[in-house]
Amino acid sequence: MTTTTPTLGLADTLKTRTQTAHTAAERHEFQGRVLRGMLGNDGYAAQMGQYYLAHKALTNALSKASSDSHVAALFRPYHVYPAMFEADLRHFGIDPASVLPLEATKRIVAEMNAADPVTLLGFTYVAEGSTNGGKYIGQALRRALNAPNGEGLSSLDPHGEAQRERWHAFRGSLDQLDLDEAGRQRLVAAADRYFVYVIELFDELSRAFPASPANLPLTR
Ligand code: HEM
Repeated sequence: MTTTTPTLGLADTLKTRTQTAHTAAERHEFQGRVLRGMLGNDGYAAQMGQYYLAHKALTNALSKASSDSHVAALFRPYHVYPAMFEADLRHFGIDPASVLPLEATKRIVAEMNAADPVTLLGFTYVAEGSTNGGKYIGQALRRALNAPNGEGLSSLDPHGEAQRERWHAFRGSLDQLDLDEAGRQRLVAAADRYFVYVIELFDELSRAFPASPANLPLTR
């Protein structure tokens, strides 16, 4: 059985525990090719479409669980932004209703639909946390995809100027959650699981966009 470190608050525990997984996601070769513009709009839009489906499933499940005291302590209306994904997808000529889940997304969506509230919050930690890096990814993609005004990139930076403040509030609320050790472990396990989802998704996308000499990253 895994144990969390009692001396750390939950927010720091999550950060520490998922650091290796974060590095693996950040350095995944598919992510690298997208960020370098090697797959053009198609690679980015394919990734975003899957994030869209996961975002909708997670925020729908959170909305249904909103009377749970733990969910109520963390979940805010600004965590729900499917319209940004939809506008971004349309910018790339994709009808949001036409986006089909890849296998990895099917699995995580099924888990979200069946998850207990604390597990949903572990997923939310990763989804929300990723908006911190999303800001930088958006900046890189403005150059790589020739989108100087962030056209099609809004879902990467859903909080804009409020990013810092909202992330700080989220972390503070995590630390205040009234959870026993079993609950903490469930939440941390869900964060781990969400990172596994992201890596599996990138692996699948990587196979859908096979590397050729022209679209392999030169460095990691
Ligand atoms: C090229 C890809 C990525 C870059 C450049 C990146 C970068 C960053 C940066 C700069 C932060 C803020 C660190 C801090 O202020 O302490 C961050 C936080 C975070 N990112 Fe990423 N990230 C990337 C990919 C991802 C992915 C794919 C996910 C998962 C979907 C993810 C999940 C998170 C989480 C959960 C945090 C919050 C960590 C914490 O403070 O607890 N990131 N990322």
